[in-house]
Amino acid sequence: MRNPIGMFDSGLGGLTVAGELLRQLPNESIIYFADTAHVPYGERPLAEIEEFALGITQFLIEQGAKAVVMACNMSSAAALSSARETFPDIPILGVIGPGSRAAVGSGAKSIGVLATTGTVKSGAYSRIIKELNPDCEVLEQPCPPFVPLVEAGLAESEEAEVAVRSCVEPLLANGIQAVVLGCTHYPFLRPAIARTAPNVQIIDPAEETVRELHNILEERGITAHNDEAAEHIFYASGDMDGFARLGSSFLGKDINHVRHAQWGVDLMPRAKSRI
Ligand code: DGL
Repeated sequence: MRNPIGMFDSGLGGLTVAGELLRQLPNESIIYFADTAHVPYGERPLAEIEEFALGITQFLIEQGAKAVVMACNMSSAAALSSARETFPDIPILGVIGPGSRAAVGSGAKSIGVLATTGTVKSGAYSRIIKELNPDCEVLEQPCPPFVPLVEAGLAESEEAEVAVRSCVEPLLANGIQAVVLGCTHYPFLRPAIARTAPNVQIIDPAEETVRELHNILEERGITAHNDEAAEHIFYASGDMDGFARLGSSFLGKDINHVRHAQWGVDLMPRAKSRI
């Protein structure tokens, strides 16, 4: 197998980024890690997420990843800078920087962000968007029910419709012009979000993330070309069957073989290095 792009998330959400990678860079192989032993991440402290993210990044690099995409907003908020310090030789991307650049690039001045509690608490979207354009107003809305609904395969249920309305309406009341899907699980709820907010631009950071990844691969001369077939490998730390079943339908590709990677055996939570 050629050197893959490592990607990870707490569960199914990062597949929205993997799907975009397959679309934009079909020659790249992917090694995907779903931390289903710890999903949902949303209410956990950022320091704990940082330890998970550093442990997973190390695991992916040990498996041969030539670049790592944190296909998870909480990990991006908690661990991007420490992962870059800890593993300086491998390009590591998060989704919050690209998502913020896409939001500012949309031209909207009043931007809503739907995210998990942890990502909202980190304030990362507000900080980065305002650094890019101090005239933008940013409103961040935590959406605790969304990830459990997606992981349960209920993204298209009435329950999801109601949860989406209750989280999106406060942003609409504040006159937002664009809304960032600030958790990689949320693109699975995009139809319900679009029904609730039909006149608002919906920004999925995945597209810009993969565009920026492509630029980095090109700069380093490590883009895969079409001389070998791409191969994709999936790992899960907890539930594997649910991940394979729902993941296959979300990705539109058979995830027929999910490997088990066990915390404490195959990978370790890792405190940040003190450089
Ligand atoms: N999909 C992840 C994110 O983008 C984590 C969601 C969760 O497990 O709460 O933040």
